[in-house]
Amino acid sequence: MSKVIAVTNQKGGVGKTTTAINLAAAIALEGKKVLLIDCDAQGNATSGVGEKGHRAPGGTIYEAITATDADLHQFILPTSTSGLSLIPATRDLSGAEIELISVEGREGRLKSLIAQVRDEFDYIIIDSPPSLGLLTLNALVAADRVLIPLHCEYFALEGLADLVATMRRVRASLNPSLDIEGVLLTMNDERTNLGQQVSRDVREFFKDKVYRTVIPRNVRLAEAPSHGLPAVTYDARSRGAEAYFAFAREVLERNEPVLAL
Ligand SMILES: Nc1ncnc2c1ncn2[C@@H]1O[C@H](COP(=O)(O)OP(=O)(O)OP(=O)(O)O)[C@@H](O)[C@H]1O
Ligand SMILES: [Mg+2]
Repeated sequence: MSKVIAVTNQKGGVGKTTTAINLAAAIALEGKKVLLIDCDAQGNATSGVGEKGHRAPGGTIYEAITATDADLHQFILPTSTSGLSLIPATRDLSGAEIELISVEGREGRLKSLIAQVRDEFDYIIIDSPPSLGLLTLNALVAADRVLIPLHCEYFALEGLADLVATMRRVRASLNPSLDIEGVLLTMNDERTNLGQQVSRDVREFFKDKVYRTVIPRNVRLAEAPSHGLPAVTYDARSRGAEAYFAFAREVLERNEPVLAL
């Protein structure tokens, strides 16, 4: 059975997509079968793995989530990273929030789609949009765990109460076992000690849910998407890629403790 992880924070530009892409790719490079689901109409995860504008035989996540009887197998694309598959998104997806508004069971669409392919992957990683709308709700209902990237800056924790409240509501109704997978500090500027202060605050709040690895601000991480490659394959030796490899190992250790021996 695979583990489904939603990468979520309704704050924009905190490193959700960079984290989803590089975690998915780094885990795939470890020999796992990984499915990355782009659940954001910006399609950044799709372009970040080189599939911008590409459609699977069935189309994109938009068609899958709005159809009544989609076979999710028809929406999976291979990527240039071995072991990493993608369900792509395009701007069409922004229509789904409105189209599904009167549909019964609309929050559970993604969950039932994922159920069709769960046993074919080790990890399923969902990239979610910067809002707490219906698509993020679908991600939270479908997920076993939520991975929260936090930008290393003052106010990093601002707005998190809304995410935690939404998680509680989902847990009380549609997904009782939902929990936090972990909290990842991203875009740390090592030239200032702001990062250390933020890190202290965040660790005080989330305790050992916070990963030891902190992702530094690194230009390679920002450049890689324009080459259609995860940074961990675009420049595996860069500081950014090395940080994501270390982070991916932590995720694997938490999930498969035998690896840590
Ligand atoms: N550690 C980093 N160092 C440098 N640049 C980064 C880093 N992480 C992300 N970026 C860049 O910062 C921008 C925002 O990152 P990203 O797209 O991953 O955030 P996001 O949370 O997915 O944004 P959105 O909320 O719009 O979906 C992107 O241009 C990305 O390439
Ligand atoms: Mg994003």
